[in-house]
Amino acid sequence: MPTQTLWSGRFKEPLAEIALKFSSSIEFDKILYEEDIAGSIAHVEMLSACKVLTASEMRRIRTALKSIQKEIETGKFELTADYEDVHMAVEKRLTQKIGALGGKLHTGRSRNDQIALDERLFLRSAIREISKLVLNLQRVLLYKSEKVFGVVMPGYTHTQRAQPILLSHHLLAYVSMLERDFERLQECSKRLNKSPLGAAAFAGTTFPIDRAMVAKKLHFDGIVENSIDAVSDRDYLIEFTAACSILIMHLSRFAEELVLWTTKEFGFAQISDSYTTGSSIMPQKKNPDMAELVRGKTGRIYGALISLLTMMKGLPLAYNRDMQEDKKPMFDVISTVRQCLYIFAHVLVHTSFNKTHMEEELRTDFLSATDMADYLVRKGLPFREAHEITGKVVAYCISHKMYFGNIDIDTLKQFSAKFNGDIFDYILPQNSVNQKQSAGSTNPHEVKKQIAVWNRVLGKRRG
Ligand code: ARG
Repeated sequence: MPTQTLWSGRFKEPLAEIALKFSSSIEFDKILYEEDIAGSIAHVEMLSACKVLTASEMRRIRTALKSIQKEIETGKFELTADYEDVHMAVEKRLTQKIGALGGKLHTGRSRNDQIALDERLFLRSAIREISKLVLNLQRVLLYKSEKVFGVVMPGYTHTQRAQPILLSHHLLAYVSMLERDFERLQECSKRLNKSPLGAAAFAGTTFPIDRAMVAKKLHFDGIVENSIDAVSDRDYLIEFTAACSILIMHLSRFAEELVLWTTKEFGFAQISDSYTTGSSIMPQKKNPDMAELVRGKTGRIYGALISLLTMMKGLPLAYNRDMQEDKKPMFDVISTVRQCLYIFAHVLVHTSFNKTHMEEELRTDFLSATDMADYLVRKGLPFREAHEITGKVVAYCISHKMYFGNIDIDTLKQFSAKFNGDIFDYILPQNSVNQKQSAGSTNPHEVKKQIAVWNRVLGKRRG
């Protein structure tokens, strides 16, 4: 049984077992062992360069740390609940291996700056990975929008049919949304890339350490200047979780659309069997569970954001043990967002769209009503008047069980003498789309332009 604590000097009694159990974070912070050891190696190398440790002391500690890493990786050294946290476990193992010299590792450092360092290192690589998954999903969406280019579908506002749009245009909206997510992640990564190490407990240290050297060794852009801020701050984690919350909110919207689109009621899309599930009771069912789960997991991410904000609210400076509670939400957000991005890209690859059904739905409805009004405006009517007339045409069609496609010109003329035979062409869904002129609109030329831009932007991005 290892000695549990590294601070027994002042105490007459050991920590009660249940207190250790309650306060231990090793069960979830053990995942940080690689970052912890990398940070310790950079720290001892710096201590030796600054003559706080001799070169041979540094080498012995470094070699032992590297072998501890191997021991953890091969399962020879287990990070168990006997230790309070990963930092203590590694340090204890170090002293077991090299004796009292192991105790020199912690010179000029505290677990308060150590945990902030580990988290920043861990998040930095998590962001790199998540960004790649965002890029991958953008590429899948871009590929899909190229494949379905030309397909016209009903576009919605208020979940009510509104105007014909290109399906590609709709898919590309998500590429734009994901681009902002990507940027937010990059900005977060840039801001977190400062080293807190050397802040020690919070006030700094009496040893002549070189914080910038450690920062450089660990590829940080510099140090967190104020040592009190360095150990008290969790903004980087909250920013990351906020960025992930927005990202998954975007996914949840698409997930919801997939759920809707794959219903019989919509019939716009289907997901292949390999990404849907059946029902244990209703033999006919084919359920979009992957999309539903992405939608559902969104709540977990928001929950993590609220947990972190609440944990930090009103905390007096500097470090407080409350902050240990940041680990579970942090790891959960990283793995959940990663899984969601990954599965969503696969679901999308295995989704196909029902062009004929979408076209049929357009034909048997009034989504080009705005175009009919625009037509009358072109003939000289003020838009409000044109809107009114078109509304009446729609009401007439509904009460006579007709669509724009089968109302005749003479009937139309009763609503306005401005109608001519060319109106029927003008309000075809395909023409509704073609006639759009504004930048960023659903006009095929505009959508083609967006596709070209994204091909250029995403094509040269590494990942
Ligand atoms: N396990 C702790 C955490 O995650 C590490 C820092 C502990 N510091 C302390 N003074 N007890 O926050």
